[in-house]
Amino acid sequence: MDTLDSPPTPTTLLLSFSQIVIAMETWTVLSICLVSLVGGAYTKDNTWGGLYPRESVSREVRSLDGLWNFRLSPLQDPDKGFREEWYSQPLSKTGSVISMAVPSSYNDVTQDKALRDHIGWAWYDRTFFVPTRWQTDKLRVVLRLGSAHYNSIVYLNGLSLTSHEGGHLPIMAEITSGLVYGRENLITVAINNTLTPETIPQGSITYHDNPTRYPPGYFTQSYNFDFTNYAGLHRTVSIYTTPVTYIDDILVTT
Ligand SMILES: *[C@@H]1O[C@H](CO)[C@@H](O)[C@H](O)[C@H]1NC(C)=O
Repeated sequence: MDTLDSPPTPTTLLLSFSQIVIAMETWTVLSICLVSLVGGAYTKDNTWGGLYPRESVSREVRSLDGLWNFRLSPLQDPDKGFREEWYSQPLSKTGSVISMAVPSSYNDVTQDKALRDHIGWAWYDRTFFVPTRWQTDKLRVVLRLGSAHYNSIVYLNGLSLTSHEGGHLPIMAEITSGLVYGRENLITVAINNTLTPETIPQGSITYHDNPTRYPPGYFTQSYNFDFTNYAGLHRTVSIYTTPVTYIDDILVTT
């Protein structure tokens, strides 16, 4: 049996495997807590993993890697970006931004202690174009973020597109209907690196409400693993096309 090292095109897959299951994407409704943060548009929880996209006769891949705009949420006002709807327009219009390399761990970029030690939401955005040919050819377009550590909410052109919990697996969403073809598209990603006893890896937040020793609202994050809780868009971000009829999943029975 062939390995999947270089994935065959959908046509050859059809010939090689006897059983192909085209599964409907299954989305689960997001917990009320996150929806209340997002406000406005409905966000689907992302449960759809996916293989790394490679160019083929039916798949065109565009990279969204490079320098994105970036801003931290204030430590003492973690929900500011949601309240002020930072996702509804370019981040550079709602405050100061720095350039952030994607993929990278933002903790490692610059010499700023606040960036290295940040706990809470961080915001990324960038603009991109898609060829109008994709619209005339009626191609399906998928967004894939290789990983975002830890919790993330993804917006496209100001609307929430998907959300994801977990820092090490791909986040994927079909974006065909949310794209604009003759103009710039805006993608915004809010990422929260807060660890809890339920996250992998685990961590906890301690609020030090002793005004004689700490500033008001001061909190720290602790964990028992021996590496930094690196955060951010850790892997490649790309968009790719598929035909309208596509393989979502395969099941090989031997
Ligand atoms: C986001 O970060 C804040 C800390 O600034 C934390 O209190 C909150 O629980 C986090 N939310 C999520 C969904 O991770």
